[in-house]
Amino acid sequence: MAILKANSDNIGKAAEIIKNGGLVAFPTETVYGLGANGFDGRAAAKIFEIKKRPSFNPLILHVSDPNQLKEIAVIKNEKTLDLIRQFWPGPLTIVLEKTDKVPDIITSGNQTVAVRMPSHKIALELLYKSGVPIAAPSANEFGKLSPTEAVHVEEQIGQHIDVILDGGQCEVGVESTIIEIGKNEISLLRHGGLPVEEIEEFLGETLTRKTNLPNPIAPGQLPYHYAPKIPLRFIDSMNHAELKDKKVGALFLTSNEYDFSFSSVKILSPTGNMQEAAANLFSFLHEFETENLDLILCEKIKRKGLGKAIMDRLTRAVNKFEKN
Ligand code: TXA
Ligand code: MG
Repeated sequence: MAILKANSDNIGKAAEIIKNGGLVAFPTETVYGLGANGFDGRAAAKIFEIKKRPSFNPLILHVSDPNQLKEIAVIKNEKTLDLIRQFWPGPLTIVLEKTDKVPDIITSGNQTVAVRMPSHKIALELLYKSGVPIAAPSANEFGKLSPTEAVHVEEQIGQHIDVILDGGQCEVGVESTIIEIGKNEISLLRHGGLPVEEIEEFLGETLTRKTNLPNPIAPGQLPYHYAPKIPLRFIDSMNHAELKDKKVGALFLTSNEYDFSFSSVKILSPTGNMQEAAANLFSFLHEFETENLDLILCEKIKRKGLGKAIMDRLTRAVNKFEKN
């Protein structure tokens, strides 16, 4: 790991790292972010690993230009563009419907994606030189304070990342304000660097408060959280008789050791690479949904490293079906 002064050369080096699937910590006007190529599911999985998040939590995609939005989000409410013109670049994150180009791990399987254009010059240059949206949560370990200086990043996660771009202290010092724009309603999900009153005054309307949800919000607590439409169970909780005449999909980590004719088998990572496994998880669950199955069975995965986040997600989904 190296802390690099954020001059033009070093920002160029950092952009190459992002393009090649590596991670870079960089300053924004709010807090330092831990960035990865937003189109690269495996790189995004590394973020969760390094932050030691016990669960997947959707990430914000950062863009260098409002025009980049077309690639990642669908705009259905014209107030979106008004808000962007008024408040971007700046500490306002907007949650919109996602396009297929955004990997499911970025959004934790949600059909919506959070996007913001930061105003920090270094962040903008890094984004511009990378040529891709950058997925970045705050560059701290789960449950610890968000970093507002490069040394805060170094202390917490420095040993795991390739480069920290040092841009001095963050001006705003708290994370961005997050709003979700639905077709007919705009809601506030997180108070942050842009006072909500300013947004409300601009729009001439009051935003629906959805801020009393735990933050960071774990996927199982989200009202909009994704769970497969087909029942999901752990494979060791079922017996052959229960599966008779059923079309069953099966999800394994490295291989299928079961003597049963599944209708569909998916392997998260044949080599047991947990970044690959995490990057595939939500996509595979989505795929199962299109395969006309009665049931999905999944293997229990060792709760180590990213395995914790994967198991957290699977357990929540399984619990849902066991309760109902
Ligand atoms: O200021 C910021 O926003 C910083 C800098 C680095 O840009 N980033 C940041 O990211 O605070 P993070 O991961 O610490 O917080 C992102 C929050 C999460 O708590 C998550 O719940 C919410 O954004 N979020 C992301 N995608 C969402 C979605 N599709 N729907 C609802 N909430 C979402
Ligand atoms: Mg955070």
